Amino acid sequence: MDSDAEPILEIEGLTKVYPGGLKALDDIGLTIRKGEIFALLGPNGAGKTTLIGAVCGLVRPSAGTIRAFGYDMHDDWRKARARIGLVPQELSTDMFEPVHRAVSYSRGLFGLPPDKTRIEEVLRSLSLWDKRNERIMALSGGMKRRVLIAKALAHEPDLLFLDEPTAGVDVELRREMWKQIDTMRARGVTIILTTHYIEEAEEMADRVGIIRNGKILMVDEKEAMMARLGRTEALIDLTEPLAELPPAMTRFPVTLGKDGMQICYRGGDGTGKGKAEVADLTKALVSCGIDYTGIDIHESSLEDIFVDLVGERA
Ligand SMILES: Nc1ncnc2c1ncn2[C@@H]1O[C@H](COP(=O)(O)OP(=O)(O)O)[C@@H](O)[C@H]1O
Ligand SMILES: [Mg+2]
Repeated sequence: MDSDAEPILEIEGLTKVYPGGLKALDDIGLTIRKGEIFALLGPNGAGKTTLIGAVCGLVRPSAGTIRAFGYDMHDDWRKARARIGLVPQELSTDMFEPVHRAVSYSRGLFGLPPDKTRIEEVLRSLSLWDKRNERIMALSGGMKRRVLIAKALAHEPDLLFLDEPTAGVDVELRREMWKQIDTMRARGVTIILTTHYIEEAEEMADRVGIIRNGKILMVDEKEAMMARLGRTEALIDLTEPLAELPPAMTRFPVTLGKDGMQICYRGGDGTGKGKAEVADLTKALVSCGIDYTGIDIHESSLEDIFVDLVGERA
């Protein structure tokens, strides 16, 4: 992602307290730049849908400011909203409508003139063309979700929110949606998706923000986040047991295990250089005349990081 690209969305001090006192968003600050795919990763109840709702004008913030495309969402809501697409988490409206009409109508909602070509293109790209005359309620869950995406794309948004786009869909459809998201990105659409699937953030995003209890715990480029928090573990099985580690090994973060038959490396914390260090380590072993039968190397994934931070499996 181009870190100098213009900011498309600027959120400052955003707080939402629901009636009853639950603080769903707590002083959120976030800047999204043109052209990026940003994944908001967090467990259920973290505040993801509330955050999207606030930006799309569906949830009234208790405090803070939101600027989209340079417009203040409080003062110039309509101007900004017309350029924002939302694929909501829940299927709701127009279940009785045929697919084609629902998608065309969505364009009109944003004050755009009808455009048959555009609608056909969107429906075809989502494999909905053959279903265009069917009522939404008659479609399978996966197809319904495609309709939601088609509706969001019908008005050619510059900024698209996908709220848990693949929750509850099968693996095949998930992969296809990822492809769709890639296609949209190629068209220059800026995408913010929420997910509680780490795999999805890892696969799709340029940047990842981790949210929990209404607070953003950290935001970073995906690779940088993994390197910053990442750690490498390597187990080296030796051909013959060692009584103790040779002095040449002491500069590495290693211990001797399995009755001297294994060297355990645990390092590279926050540097992203663990793998390179393990390579150095194996060279040092060879030059000490120590032979090994195999190396099992593991680098922590975004999932490990997420679990460490959030303290639970998503
Ligand atoms: N309309 C509402 N009224 C009161 N509490 C709500 C409302 N919507 C969501 N919440 C609460 O706000 C918190 C954040 O919810 P939500 O934004 O839906 O989280 P997520 O999308 O990350 O699962 C949750 O504790 C949820 O129960
Ligand atoms: Mg949600």
